[in-house]
Amino acid sequence: MTEEMQNRTRQTPGAGPVLVTSGTGKTGRRVVERLAAREVPVRVGSRRGEVPFDWADESGWEAALSGVEAAYVAYAPDLGAPGAPAAMTAFGQVVRRCGVRRLVLLSGRGEPDSVVAEEALRAASGDAELTVVRSAFFTQNFSEGVLVEGVRGGELVFPAGDTAEPFVDADDVADVMVSALCGESGAGRVHELTGPQALTFTEVAVELTGATGREVRYVALAGAEYEQMLVGYGVPAAEAAFLAELFTTLLDGHNAAVTDGVKQALGRDPKPFARFAAEAARDGAWDA
Ligand SMILES: NC(=O)c1ccc[n+]([C@@H]2O[C@H](COP(=O)([O-])OP(=O)(O)OC[C@H]3O[C@@H](n4cnc5c(N)ncnc54)[C@H](OP(=O)(O)O)[C@@H]3O)[C@@H](O)[C@H]2O)c1
Repeated sequence: MTEEMQNRTRQTPGAGPVLVTSGTGKTGRRVVERLAAREVPVRVGSRRGEVPFDWADESGWEAALSGVEAAYVAYAPDLGAPGAPAAMTAFGQVVRRCGVRRLVLLSGRGEPDSVVAEEALRAASGDAELTVVRSAFFTQNFSEGVLVEGVRGGELVFPAGDTAEPFVDADDVADVMVSALCGESGAGRVHELTGPQALTFTEVAVELTGATGREVRYVALAGAEYEQMLVGYGVPAAEAAFLAELFTTLLDGHNAAVTDGVKQALGRDPKPFARFAAEAARDGAWDA
């Protein structure tokens, strides 16, 4: 692409807003902050967002996408979940009707089921430019997500065995998303994002012990034990089974290799886990 063409396709002042689905979540919130800092108009779409948007109810999608230039697509509960391909097809059809020019899709790294959903969106959304970002496990799962209470309580109970995972920081993911949403580097491509180093959960526990100043230990569970634990906490049986299967498959070792996806997209290195942990501790993520 020539420089002139790149300039033409970039997000320009006066263009329509960007719809950010899951705009209150771990990546969506960061995408919203970054777009606002660039003075790009944003619609925060989620069940609790300023624009009502529910992945389980198509009736609000057309209003949310009407007049929109670009959309950040973060499907809930997970792009690898059984309902995701049908939802991506239906969403892509609305994208096409509304003339949305650019889509940036959050996907999971090394998840064949998520690739099916990616392709469903690509097939349904016509000429819209599609960027796919396949991300490793977020470091923020330890500070804002499924594992935050475990860190506070000193025990990471998870079905990860001794597998290493190259955790990636949601700040880095959001930077890649915003670059693509604004038609800059990496737009229209498929990215595989990881952090700079693969760590086992035992090594993560050591990092978190150092960052919090309190002992955090890792307790490995089999998938079936984890599923039973979730059911015991009141998670519906089907969701518990899906999550146990998702985590044990993701963390079976096939995703352990580090990629240079952040460097390729942004020209800089990703954030190390130790820096994430120090920043989260400083910001009070694990305070009582
Ligand atoms: N967590 C990871 O490590 C990771 C890694 C790679 C990819 N992903 C992908 O990231 C996506 C988000 O997962 P996450 O765990 O990180 O969650 P999250 O984005 O932190 O939180 C969930 C978000 O989804 C919204 N949401 C939940 N149910 C919704 C619904 N029915 N309709 C519309 N919005 C809904 C929530 O807002 P409201 O409650 O306001 O609706 C919230 O903004 C998934 O597609 C997952 O596959 C996650």
